[in-house]
Amino acid sequence: MKKKVLVTRKLLRSNEERATKFWEAKLNLNDEVYSQKKLIELSQGCDGILSSLTEKIDEKVISSLSPTIKIISNFAVGFGNIDIEAAKKKNIVVTNTPDVLTDATAEIAMLLILGACRRANEGISYAKKENWKWSADFLIGKQLTGSRLGILGMGRIGRALAKLAKAFGMEIHYRNRSRLSPEKEMGAKYHEDLKSLFSVSDVLSICCPATKETKDIINKETLEYFPTGAIITNVARGDMIDDEAMVKALTNRKIYAIGLDVYKGEPKIYPGYLNQPSAFILPHLGSATKKTRTAMADLAIDNLEEFFNTGNCKNKVN
Ligand code: GLV
Repeated sequence: MKKKVLVTRKLLRSNEERATKFWEAKLNLNDEVYSQKKLIELSQGCDGILSSLTEKIDEKVISSLSPTIKIISNFAVGFGNIDIEAAKKKNIVVTNTPDVLTDATAEIAMLLILGACRRANEGISYAKKENWKWSADFLIGKQLTGSRLGILGMGRIGRALAKLAKAFGMEIHYRNRSRLSPEKEMGAKYHEDLKSLFSVSDVLSICCPATKETKDIINKETLEYFPTGAIITNVARGDMIDDEAMVKALTNRKIYAIGLDVYKGEPKIYPGYLNQPSAFILPHLGSATKKTRTAMADLAIDNLEEFFNTGNCKNKVN
């Protein structure tokens, strides 16, 4: 008998076709963002859920999910939207989609760096208003060549970004829970603590997971460690930045510009950023290419299949 799987969001067509070959898939053809109540109702009688970052699957939801649910396959590398401990207690396996989105996300990290350093937000708005005039000092930005890039979190995405940034002539520094092997480090300089990393970061890229330890890691005190005029970019999760302190630092020019693909409370953004001309902001586009989104959904499907066939999954996170 075919397994029943609730697919919470609309996937690309080829992925939905694949899902329906394997399972009796409850697809979301109108791409409605399900409330917690609706998710619980729709899960009745299903064997698994293919979830997305847009559903908050907290302890309350997990305790009310159909007892037939044995796996939640999250269509993302991050899984902060799911209470993985509560899932574990209920014997529900949670999986994610690592690796396949590394390059696409590193590209967006590079775009944030370029956009923030070269004043893309201001440039776009001048170009659209057709009211600009070339002059030798018009929209002067910061050049990447020869500047120091600090990478906070040297996992797959951090390392892919290091390679790209090196091609732009940047010098790479990093901080990670543990030091990488020389082959993985590829000449990047390891820093034992945050202060040491931030104090050499002309540009910072946040690439680390959101955890209790990294919450608000950029705050009033740590912002002081940066060289005046530094640029901060974030391609990981909004949780890492204390927005009030960040906007103050932009206003008093301690920080020159910010590049954000992620922020607390998405799609809403801390309003203080909206009137900062130097804020270059994107709507969580890290993995948004056809190649990557297809590969992510295929992997989320494979994770379910592996679990249904073997009772386990290599991409299990709990
Ligand atoms: C995107 O933010 C992801 O975690 O996949």
